[in-house]
Amino acid sequence: MRDAAPQTIRLADYTPPAWLVEKVDLTFRLDPEATHVISRIAFRANPAHGGRGDLRLDGEGLRLIRAALDGIPLAAGNFGTDSTGLTVPAEALPGDAFTWEAEVEIAPAGNTALEGLYLSGGMFCTQCEAEGFRKITYYPDRPDVMAPFSVRIESEMPVLLSNGNPVASGAGWAEWHDPWPKPSYLFALVAGDLVAHRDTFTTASGRPVALNVWVRRGDEDRCAYAMDALKRAMRWDEQVYSREYDLDVFNIVAVDDFNMGAMENKGLNIFNSKYVLASPETATDLDFERIEGIVAHEYFHNWTGNRITCRDWFQLCLKEGLTVYRDQQFSGDMRSHAVKRIEDVLQLRARQFREDNGPLAHPVRPESYIEINNFYTATVYEKGAELIGMLRRLAGDEGYARALDLYFSRHDGEAATIEDWLKVFEDATGRDLGQFKLWYSQPGTPRLHVSEDFKNGTYTLHFRQETPPTARQPEKRPLVLPIAVGLLAPDGREVHPTTVLEMTEPEQSFSFDGLDARPVPSLLRSFSAPVILVRETSTEERAFLLAHDTDPFNRWEAGRALAKDVLTRMITDRADPGPAYLDALAAMAGDESLDPAFRAYGLALPSEDDMAQTLHDAGVVPDPLAIHAARERLTLAVARHLSSLLPGLYASMETPGPFTPDAAAAGRRSLRGAVLRLLTRLDLGAVAERQFADADNMTEQLAALGCLLDAETGAGQDALARFARQWGHDRLVMDKWFTLQIAHAAPERAVAVTDGLTGHRDFDWLNPNRFRAVIGALPMLNPAGFHDPSGAGYRLVTDWLLRLDARNPQTTARLCSVFETWGRYDTDRKAMIEGELRRILDTEGLSRDTTEMVGRILGA
Ligand code: TRP
Ligand code: ZN
Repeated sequence: MRDAAPQTIRLADYTPPAWLVEKVDLTFRLDPEATHVISRIAFRANPAHGGRGDLRLDGEGLRLIRAALDGIPLAAGNFGTDSTGLTVPAEALPGDAFTWEAEVEIAPAGNTALEGLYLSGGMFCTQCEAEGFRKITYYPDRPDVMAPFSVRIESEMPVLLSNGNPVASGAGWAEWHDPWPKPSYLFALVAGDLVAHRDTFTTASGRPVALNVWVRRGDEDRCAYAMDALKRAMRWDEQVYSREYDLDVFNIVAVDDFNMGAMENKGLNIFNSKYVLASPETATDLDFERIEGIVAHEYFHNWTGNRITCRDWFQLCLKEGLTVYRDQQFSGDMRSHAVKRIEDVLQLRARQFREDNGPLAHPVRPESYIEINNFYTATVYEKGAELIGMLRRLAGDEGYARALDLYFSRHDGEAATIEDWLKVFEDATGRDLGQFKLWYSQPGTPRLHVSEDFKNGTYTLHFRQETPPTARQPEKRPLVLPIAVGLLAPDGREVHPTTVLEMTEPEQSFSFDGLDARPVPSLLRSFSAPVILVRETSTEERAFLLAHDTDPFNRWEAGRALAKDVLTRMITDRADPGPAYLDALAAMAGDESLDPAFRAYGLALPSEDDMAQTLHDAGVVPDPLAIHAARERLTLAVARHLSSLLPGLYASMETPGPFTPDAAAAGRRSLRGAVLRLLTRLDLGAVAERQFADADNMTEQLAALGCLLDAETGAGQDALARFARQWGHDRLVMDKWFTLQIAHAAPERAVAVTDGLTGHRDFDWLNPNRFRAVIGALPMLNPAGFHDPSGAGYRLVTDWLLRLDARNPQTTARLCSVFETWGRYDTDRKAMIEGELRRILDTEGLSRDTTEMVGRILGA
């Protein structure tokens, strides 16, 4: 059956629910093929709704067995069902308050979409955000309906979990009660043969909390880091935001089949096992860092998301932008703020700027959607977090703290909006945020053009802001831009410390006087606003900032800009790199006063995708193969230029003793890995081979393996085989094995390598991690191979997206974004990509998720 044309949902159409829920009782009789869900829901008329309306309950794919109102079975003529739910007309309702009771049957075993109740590795688990609860039972599945839940689970599985606190349990059953009113998207249930890594936490006010990380048998020795991160996150939220945990238990469960990273269900966070399980032998430093960040993120949602939730899904950034901002702050406090900011901006530019400058551009608070799952985007999350950072810069640290205190006290227990959020800042600081609010509704990345003059000791910066038109929004208005600026004297001293200039006009100038000589400006320090800075800057000035800037972010940024200038010339004019960049890089790499992690980021060249976007912005049609070749040439030139420094640096960055995942040790390994990549260009993998043989941790083993593949000597293939023998039993490590081969394949072989791996017996394509590790790796980690002039890369990815769409629309639709940059390329490539996108759209029975994504990418 094909549904009617999918509906567009609009923010402007919001109406409060006619019926509120007083409390919910659920009983689950679990069975893989036929689970029965019995619900008792106490409804009461919403005084905020004008008059008593119909009772509309969402429900999809449910077999209704019985339903009753106040104990009286619902007669067939008194309600109607359709493909998205059930309606009882107002006349058939008993009064202003009544109890709905129903029993439905669902089949978790056949649920490959991983939304609602499903099975993963033999355990039952749920994923309800955004609209998965309606696949479990009939309910007003919208976030502004909040209620306390009681849950009874009946199953032979030994471990039975749900939200809140455990109430009672016996052989084959368990009961849970969550006293905190919550929307249905935060409901969770887990049943399986699980083991716990246990700990306890005492809150600031002295309440004990039992902490458990639940995993499959055999994984229990890989939970310590996640547990440690959880306890640090709990303490940090008390100390920095005065937020305490509010239940007797906090459970985390790791599952192998999961569409995204993790989910903040109240008291029962469910995680993709990739973001829980870690041991030195199996997880890289980057894995440890992500685990720390995601454990914290989900924990922080307990206040920003759960206690205060969203009125509707248009307000998604209310919880996600703020929670990302909070997890970034946390990671900065745990590690290094300078390095964290570099990582966050790299990510923002690679994902959010890419999105904001293409056909999928949308506001941080979208105004319409067809499938809400398609709006869990870099714009909502990462740009949403940047908006919080700007608010803080404008309000000051104390103003921010006052605003947040007010937010928590004013809106606890509510489903709030962006208007509510901005109002607490206005009330706490006395500022008018009317213009700032545009950041939430205006998509596109602003360009900030800068020029300057110097006269009689006065230095003036002239700014002009302009946001290019985006899909469906041609006209742009000026935004509030906090521009952090410092000035350096020609001898490298800072003559003006960081000040935040507030730009509100299309064009605006700011002066600094009393200067002896023309200063060098350090603009947009710490990346104080998510904009693209446009300014003619000489190589000398960039090298000067790389050597002298006191702002670590801008120091890195100067090196980055130098690298981009050099690469651009190498691509467009086939120029040589020239000495300025290479000398500056050598000085930076050897500067022992600099954090090794920072130096590692300094040595990393801009990605091929970043260069493609940079060329496109400059009006040049990017050739992915030419970009790849130039980047290879530059890597070799860097290796040669730094050749005398590399062996010593490699040796000095060794981390003796047992592995520790802390930032200092990780930073040393990161620099050592960057040095090894360069060394490999000169020694054909001799050092890498030794490192591969000796490594006692995954960071170093994997780094060495990547280098051996780059060296193309045959040692790489041997090492791959050895790696597979060592780790063939381990799903998470084998994901890396699949990905690495694709990432390091020469462009002309990348499609064949990917295609070959799809025939591997361990290519379990229904597992989202594995699918992304193989099909996602080609476009994301080997763009030159993906954009093969034959179009074979586009065809391969399209074939697999179509295959997955029939089973898992959510993961398919997300991956469609690999095509979002198609407008950058030459006519032939564009025509081939367009052909593939049309082939997707023309497919019978295509999901709503993928239909919306591909339609938007095509600009329909
Ligand atoms: N709210 C989750 C987070 O940010 C993410 C999320 C949304 C999610 N929808 C999901 C996770 C579907 C898994 C599946 O942490
Ligand atoms: Zn989140």
